[in-house]
Amino acid sequence: MTFDNAIVALSNDALRFVKDGYVLGLGSGRAATVFVKSLSSYLQTSGISIKAVPTSLQIKMEAEQGGIPLIEADQLEHIDIVFDGADQIDQEKFMIKGGGGALLRENILINLAKKVIIMADQTKFVKKLNRSVPVEVIPFARRIVSNHIKKIGGKPMIRTLERGYPFVTENGNVILDCNFGKILKPKKLVDKIIKIPGVIEVGIFTRKPNVIYKAKSNGKFDILT
Ligand code: A5P
Repeated sequence: MTFDNAIVALSNDALRFVKDGYVLGLGSGRAATVFVKSLSSYLQTSGISIKAVPTSLQIKMEAEQGGIPLIEADQLEHIDIVFDGADQIDQEKFMIKGGGGALLRENILINLAKKVIIMADQTKFVKKLNRSVPVEVIPFARRIVSNHIKKIGGKPMIRTLERGYPFVTENGNVILDCNFGKILKPKKLVDKIIKIPGVIEVGIFTRKPNVIYKAKSNGKFDILT
């Protein structure tokens, strides 16, 4: 039994939150992908109908393959539930997201949603956030924002692909992965970073999830509410 078994099991469990007529937000990454596969099978047998909004091309393609009905985000009035993964979660339920680069769309949907359900394996849970914070930046301001980040105590590194090409988000921006060490006051840090001209989004999410699934290495999971 592994984390992968646990993610499959918790995805199946999370389907009980999905009700007929709901509009769902689909996060990006590994856990969200497993959830989309479970959702796809569920829709084929349960007879309920939903609509979903993907946060990235990656998850859009998964959803299309699974025959999940999609709507455009700009048609949205509301979202009932967002299902998403996370890169790190602290004891107060602040999260770091954006490891896959979809932080802007994820944060938009998470802030709109009535309910947020997060699925992550136990290695992502920490007392205090301490991994690098993805910051989405317009390319024009790359160097200017880097200098600001250094002034507020961070160490920015532009995210690159293999062979050194810069990673470009689906919004045409770059990502600075910024190391701030242990983050004692996540909200204050977000406020400082988001104020820097040229910053589009910060990968510290302050909207607390309603339900968190913690996948364990023995294939089981815990539910934190
Ligand atoms: C995408 O940009 C991220 O926010 C993901 O939700 C996060 O990286 C978690 O991904 P995994 O489920 O693949 O670990």
